[in-house]
Amino acid sequence: MHMTEAEVLQTYQKYVVPSYRRTNLCLVKGNGAWVTDTRGKRYLDFFPGWAVSGIGHCHPRVVKAIAEQAKKSIHFSNNFLHPLQAQLAEKLIRLSFPGKIFFANSGAEANEAAIKLARLAGRPNGRYQIISFTGSFHGRTLATLTMTGQHKVQKGFSPLPSGFRKAKFNDLESVKKVLGPKTAAIVIEPIQGEGGVNPARPGFLKDLRRLCTQHKILLIFDEIQTGMGRTGKLFAFQHYQVTPDAMTLAKTLGGGVPIGAIIIAEKYADLFSPGTHASTFGGGPLVCAAALAVLEAIEKEKLLENAVSMGAYLQERLRKISPLVKEVRGAGLMIGCELKVPAAAITEEAQKNGLLVNCTQYNVLRVMPPLTLTREQADLGLSILKKCLN
Ligand SMILES: Cc1ncc(COP(=O)(O)O)c(C=O)c1O
Repeated sequence: MHMTEAEVLQTYQKYVVPSYRRTNLCLVKGNGAWVTDTRGKRYLDFFPGWAVSGIGHCHPRVVKAIAEQAKKSIHFSNNFLHPLQAQLAEKLIRLSFPGKIFFANSGAEANEAAIKLARLAGRPNGRYQIISFTGSFHGRTLATLTMTGQHKVQKGFSPLPSGFRKAKFNDLESVKKVLGPKTAAIVIEPIQGEGGVNPARPGFLKDLRRLCTQHKILLIFDEIQTGMGRTGKLFAFQHYQVTPDAMTLAKTLGGGVPIGAIIIAEKYADLFSPGTHASTFGGGPLVCAAALAVLEAIEKEKLLENAVSMGAYLQERLRKISPLVKEVRGAGLMIGCELKVPAAAITEEAQKNGLLVNCTQYNVLRVMPPLTLTREQADLGLSILKKCLN
């Protein structure tokens, strides 16, 4: 059934919970760095699916993997084995750090597993508290929004679960102030995404590693946004020479289909014993086939190298694009362009001009194009942004 844009909007208004701030743009197709609306107008997408379509919309390898797998099996429960989950687990462990993996369906769910892991590890010593950071974002479930360091996501949902403490991002002294005998883990995004693209200082992560080792507590990296090549390395921790005890992934990992995962270092990898954690959909054949295709694309198409070179190119040009730019920060193709003016008006104007880009924290343009970005696409996006900023 064909619906006009207006009909789609009316139907949403009548039947879909209004929990999102949506634009009226109605999309029907995605291809690489491009999306198309119902009227056939194309937009260059510098924020594909909130980083879910991190290697571009409908990447041919992912499409092929899903289509072929759908003919064989879409889902089996975790009471049975299937080769694709085994292959994906083996590959992700080989590419990150020695340990084991648990598959879920979203970032928040992966972080829920991280919280449960910290509590299991801390339990024998009476440790259960988790320290996270101001400006962080970890999800929208009750526990993960409590772990999130932004009041706006917590407002209206009290009483919040107990056992969460906050420290100031990049400030070791503030961590030491809240760290105590009940602390079980420290959870951090190596580069805060939703918080405004704020990189952790390398020294800060090294200090956290030292502190966690010293107190025998877990250091957990939320790499849901930074992972899977976004920063120019497969995982952001690889920039810092700091290995966490656990790392959560989601978004780009599935190439567009829902997946979440937690990689747990060997020392803690057997804490989840049968019956302690589960997820009905987690790690089914279809999503594993898609994730294997994403990893293959990153490797075979040299997407990490592309993220490094196109990231440097974009960052350098964004710095000079307009006097309204205050600061450009990030790594690879995870770029925050802080403006001296509100960024929402710029993203609206960009959309009118055929470019989709995100605004976060009031005045930060979050520029996260697909890792497949070409020089021509980068130049086109830059020229639209320049027009909007000037
Ligand atoms: C760093 C980080 N952690 C967790 C999440 C939550 O992921 P999901 O929306 O898949 O639950 C997000 C989503 O934006 C994120 O950026």
